[in-house]
Amino acid sequence: MLIAGARGLLGQKLVEIFKRESEYELLPCELTAGTEGYIELDITDRQKVLDAVAQERPSVIVNAAAFTDVDRAESERGIAYKVNATAVGHLAEAAKIFNAKLIHISTDYVFNGRKGNYSEDSLPEPLGYYGKSKLAGENLAKAQLDDLAILRTQVLYGFAKGVKKNFVLWVLEKLSGGQKFSVVTDQVGNPTIADELAFAVLKVVKKGAIGLYHVSGFETMSRFEFARQIAEVFGFDPAVISTTTTDKLNQTAKRPMNSSFICLKAQTDLGIAMPSVRDSLTLMKQQMKQAGIKFQ
Ligand SMILES: NC(=O)c1ccc[n+]([C@@H]2O[C@H](COP(=O)([O-])OP(=O)(O)OC[C@H]3O[C@@H](n4cnc5c(N)ncnc54)[C@H](OP(=O)(O)O)[C@@H]3O)[C@@H](O)[C@H]2O)c1
Repeated sequence: MLIAGARGLLGQKLVEIFKRESEYELLPCELTAGTEGYIELDITDRQKVLDAVAQERPSVIVNAAAFTDVDRAESERGIAYKVNATAVGHLAEAAKIFNAKLIHISTDYVFNGRKGNYSEDSLPEPLGYYGKSKLAGENLAKAQLDDLAILRTQVLYGFAKGVKKNFVLWVLEKLSGGQKFSVVTDQVGNPTIADELAFAVLKVVKKGAIGLYHVSGFETMSRFEFARQIAEVFGFDPAVISTTTTDKLNQTAKRPMNSSFICLKAQTDLGIAMPSVRDSLTLMKQQMKQAGIKFQ
C-alpha cells in the first residue's frame, strides 16, 4: 500500500492504522526526504509517480497529499492546481497502468454551501480555487480509472507530529494563550477526526469499495459551537470565546457557509459509525497528553 502525503495529518493516521494491520506492506511517501523508511515522492512529478508505482507495485495507492491552504490557493493557483488536480491524474494513470486501486481524499469545499445536507448526488459548485482544484482532481481521477474510491471529508482535525494548524489546534493555542477571541457562528459543518477518516480508508480497502463517499462526523455544528466543545473537553472556560460572522474576518477565499454532509452511503455500504465530537476530542486530548503536551 502506497500512501502519498504520509507526513500530513491524515497521512500519519493512515500509517498508524495500516501498521497495525500486518497484511499490508506499507510504502509511506513524503514530499521531502527525511523520515527513515519513507520514499521521497512529489506527486506533481509524473515520471517519479510512474517510476515509484512501477518499482513498488502497490495494490492500493492512497492519496493523502494535497495543497490544503484554502486562502493561499487563491494567490498560488498554479501550484494548487498541480497538487490537487494534475497530480491526482498522475496517480490515477499509474494506478491504471499497474493495476492498483486508488483511494483519493476530497472535500466539502466542492459545494457552494448555500443549502447544506449534501449527498454524493448533490451538484458541486465550488466557490474558491481550492474547491475548484479539488473538484478537478476528482474528475481527472474518474476519467482515467474505475478502481477508484473518492472520500470527501470536512473540518478535519486531529493531533499528529509537525502538522499544520487545524481548527482544534488553533482554538487550543488561543485558549492556552489566555486571550479572549471570537469564532464564526455562520460557518457550519461536520467536524471529523482524522483517526476516523483513516479508519474509513481501511474499511474501503477491506471491502474493495469503489465510488464516491461522504465521510464526516455525524454532528452538524457551527465553528463557534465546535470551539466551545473544544474548550469544555480540554478544561478551559468557554466563556472566553465570543461570536463573530464570516464577513468580519476578511478571509481571502470564499467559503461554503453550510457544507454539512449526509453520510448514509458510507454508513450503509462501509459500516462507518463515527464517534461523537466530544468523544473524538477526548481521544485527541489523550493523544496530546501522551505526547507530553500541556494545555494550560
Ligand atoms: N484539513 C481539512 O479541514 C480538510 C477538509 C476537507 C478535506 N481535506 C482533505 O483531506 C486530505 C488530507 O488533509 P490533511 O489535513 O491531512 O492535509 P495536510 O496535513 O496539509 O497534509 C497534506 C500533505 O501533503 C503533502 N504534499 C503537499 N504537496 C505535495 C506534493 N506535491 N507531493 C507530495 N506530497 C505533498 C504535504 O507535505 P508538506 O507538509 O511537506 O507540504 C503534507 O504532508 C486532503 O486531500 C485535503 O484536501 C482536508
